[in-house]
Amino acid sequence: MSQKISIVQLIEDLERLEGEAASDITNASDKKSLENLRVQLLGKKGRLSQVLGSMKNLENEERPIIGQRANLLKNSLQELLAERLQVLKSKALEELIASEKIDVTAPSSGKLFGHRHPLITTTEQIVDLFCGLGYEVKEGPEIESDYYNFAALNIPEDHPARDMQDTFYLNNNLLLRTHTSPVQIRCLEKNPPPIRIVAPGRVYRRDAIDATHSPVFHQVEVLAIDEGLDFSHLRGTVLAFLKSFFGDLPVRFRASYFPFTEPSAEVDVQWRGKWLEVMGCGMVDPSVLNGLGIDPERWSGFAAGLGVERFCMVRHGIDDIRRLYTSDLRFLEQF
Ligand code: FA5
Ligand code: MG
Repeated sequence: MSQKISIVQLIEDLERLEGEAASDITNASDKKSLENLRVQLLGKKGRLSQVLGSMKNLENEERPIIGQRANLLKNSLQELLAERLQVLKSKALEELIASEKIDVTAPSSGKLFGHRHPLITTTEQIVDLFCGLGYEVKEGPEIESDYYNFAALNIPEDHPARDMQDTFYLNNNLLLRTHTSPVQIRCLEKNPPPIRIVAPGRVYRRDAIDATHSPVFHQVEVLAIDEGLDFSHLRGTVLAFLKSFFGDLPVRFRASYFPFTEPSAEVDVQWRGKWLEVMGCGMVDPSVLNGLGIDPERWSGFAAGLGVERFCMVRHGIDDIRRLYTSDLRFLEQF
């Protein structure tokens, strides 16, 4: 038999609940404990439900009194919970903002920054100088056909000149280009003269590696075809270019031979007390122009192919080409 509960006792219970709940809510320190508190107070099996459950023991006329007070309490607890939730939310946001603050005056963590390789910078400087003279930048493929790398440049099969550039051959009559000169042919095929192009790129040769040779290296090709161009234009352009790039370094033109130019020359500059060959050049051979359907009676011009590594070495006083490929930071950080 359940004990008879008096209305006075229930009112006291509600008042105690009110006082305790108010201080518990104000003390709740995070959203999770506040939610637990809400369940404890207002949930189905919570404290308020328990008080209401005891109402069945009251007299009929007493029940509405407790019911009313319980409702008021429920409303005020819900308000307190909502207010506290708001406070906790803005506190959490403030903490988040404080934790994400960046001190822009703090000393750096000392991260190292990369920079461009001296070969890239040298290529860009060379290309820029020709752009300044009105040349247009072009590029060609590193995998070439025999036609573009040799035949169209007046180097037929079994011609001894093929030995000048020992070749890496691939299948299907393809090869790794041994120089950037095939870009001359590709451009002339597409764009009839007048034409002025500068074409940087990587080339491959079965050369043994030493201080000035590598089996993979970089060239920049230069080609100008127009009406009335002669050797003085070639010489003037090359000398102006070398002076802009090297300053007053001694240079010499040396007569040479290339199947695709006539006359031909190679250019040497002073490097570590001796002459170093840095480029080949010449007047484009009429037979190359004829092969492309360009009339050599009307059009003439010159071409040059230079070794980027050697320009870089001379410019920066580098003693060995291999330093450019070994990625030694102690070396690279000087540039
Ligand atoms: C040629 O490759 C010709 N195509 C150049 C040319 C173009 C002549 C247009 C006339 C008209 P040569 O084999 O000399 O020429 O090479 C040109 C330059 O490339 C050389 O002067 C040198 O600076 C560089 N070079 C050649 N072989 C190597 C190598 N193994 N390693 C690094 N640089 C090299
Ligand atoms: Mg040469």
